[in-house]
Amino acid sequence: MAPAWPYPRWIAHRGAGKLAPENTLAAFRVGASHGYRAFECDVKLSADGVPFLLHDETLQRTTNGHGMAARFSWSELSRFDAGSWHGRGFAGEPLPSLETISRYCLGNGFALNIEIKPTPGSEEQTGRIVAERAAVLWRNAPQPPLLSSFQPASLAAAMLAAPALPRALLLDALHPGWLPLARTLGCAAVVAAYSLIDIDVLTQIRDAGLRALVYTVNDPAEAERLALLAIDGFITDAVDRFSPGT
Ligand code: G3P
Ligand code: MG
Repeated sequence: MAPAWPYPRWIAHRGAGKLAPENTLAAFRVGASHGYRAFECDVKLSADGVPFLLHDETLQRTTNGHGMAARFSWSELSRFDAGSWHGRGFAGEPLPSLETISRYCLGNGFALNIEIKPTPGSEEQTGRIVAERAAVLWRNAPQPPLLSSFQPASLAAAMLAAPALPRALLLDALHPGWLPLARTLGCAAVVAAYSLIDIDVLTQIRDAGLRALVYTVNDPAEAERLALLAIDGFITDAVDRFSPGT
């Protein structure tokens, strides 16, 4: 029997990043306004090693910058506009640092799932630095952040740097050896693309003593199918469709 799972079941993806610019504080505020108390976000490193929120390797889809984000210092990144692409009402919204998001979540009693999203080639460094910073930022918190990644090297580095922070292996496919890998990395959970999860896969996860979370569930029929399987966590964009109380 796995230990009690301390996180809310419904988690706003990229901080509710469809109704507001993803991975910004504005998105977290929109998620919170819909009653969400848990958030997922993507974290990578600036050129000078500051963990900050951004999904893509490059800046152009979600900011007014161009090129590889990892080439810019945090001082440069913090001046980009990460809101106008979504709508004029969000003009000037900055890229947030992990520290800013930690203050928002801790101040409101919200849970955070930090997806370690390294720029290719910096898997180990990103895992280590994000875990070290998270351990400091959440040191007095009642509930630690959940660190997840598609990158085993990032999770292995996080395990070494901050072994007490819970980890989860992200799965976009059931790669050979996925379950032993999750165990070797000391994971408390797997976070799988929802279409991968059926009763057989779920039984394997549970028998290994792990929790099962899914992303990104926006379809009510899928949510119902997965709820019947008693999934531990749903990551969703559709914060206006799914009440987090259910
Ligand atoms: O953490 C779950 C989900 O966010 C993984 O996919 O591409 O949205 O970061 P992506
Ligand atoms: Mg993500």
